[in-house]
Amino acid sequence: MKSIQSKGLDLNNKKILIRLDLNVPLNGANIIDTNRIDKTIPTLQYLLKNKAKIIILSHVGRPKGKIVNELSLKPVCNELERKLNQKISFITDTINKIKIENFFSERNNIVMLENLRFFKEEESDDSIFAENLANLADIYVNEAFSCSHRKHASVHSITKFIPSYSGIQLEAEVNSLIKITSNIKRPISCIIGGSKISTKITVIKNLIDKFDNIIFVGGMANNILKFKKYQIGKSIYEKNVDQIISEIFDLSEKKNCKIFFPLDVSTGKSVEEKSIIKKLTEISNDDMILDIGPETIKMIKNIINNSNTILWNGPAGYFENPEFSKGSNEIAKQIIKRKKENKIYCVSGGGDTVAVLNNFGLVKDFDFVSTAGGAFLEFLEGKELPGIKALNS
Ligand code: 3PG
Repeated sequence: MKSIQSKGLDLNNKKILIRLDLNVPLNGANIIDTNRIDKTIPTLQYLLKNKAKIIILSHVGRPKGKIVNELSLKPVCNELERKLNQKISFITDTINKIKIENFFSERNNIVMLENLRFFKEEESDDSIFAENLANLADIYVNEAFSCSHRKHASVHSITKFIPSYSGIQLEAEVNSLIKITSNIKRPISCIIGGSKISTKITVIKNLIDKFDNIIFVGGMANNILKFKKYQIGKSIYEKNVDQIISEIFDLSEKKNCKIFFPLDVSTGKSVEEKSIIKKLTEISNDDMILDIGPETIKMIKNIINNSNTILWNGPAGYFENPEFSKGSNEIAKQIIKRKKENKIYCVSGGGDTVAVLNNFGLVKDFDFVSTAGGAFLEFLEGKELPGIKALNS
């Protein structure tokens, strides 16, 4: 990969199209966790110091090619303005209609485009869309490791049309993950949670070989419970994944990797409610599983105590409501306890997992915290990520 910090690369007055991952958890116009925004500041400051003109590209959420007002990047733009203490022009025009020069001025060197996923061409990796984006600038930078597992126009096709470089944070993340995966000490336990079930479930199968224990929590676990014929009420789950789950169980037996899932759960009739602890046999039609229960927490703590490495990706529950953040909190505390006793090496990844750790002020206690969720897992799988491959070719 060619780095944006390469010696001799002249950025003076150049227009730089930078792909960031500003996919932060939002509640209306409120940003629940700003970690992904904070991580971009050093790179943006580096570009400004080198007198570049910056065009920020990102997505937030999954609007699936439609304009969804709640998924506008405007609140994120406002937050970046505050953090950089700079005016940022926010552009909502269709990409091929943008006259980019009109948005820059003597005192305004940063512009930001609206959510790229409002255009269906982004996710279909459309070449014309990518070329239109590329035409806005002189240089492209991928500073979104956490999106680099997606073969999308702004991380993949775009590199065909414009000189392309890796960002500072992307490089740091790739280098740390290479180091981690080559020095890993067994037994390794992986805690997988969160709500992006479809992204992760296929990856798990390929990770069985590499882990001694896989513990399913959060939305991921609901699918396992459903597969095991437990009632999961109104809880989130993914359709048509029974075959892959059955393969996960078969393979884990062959490869001697133990699979764990909740023994009890914390439920509510909606995400705003108070927690009610239930056994798996007590869940009713109108219940939502929103966290793991005390028996499960005990089981996970025991596994953590018997591991030398922990990889954690995805919260154990709906942590946005403190009623359902206990599972994630207890997991985090036990990992940190063992880490402080020098008993484990711990790595965590994913936007929501980082939000959980930030919430409890624990980010600094982990050995490594990746901003990436799905990309982190696919990297562990040993796959070459499309966004990284595109920078190398
Ligand atoms: C992430 O949060 O992992 C990245 O922003 C990618 O988001 P996606 O899973 O919706 O593609």
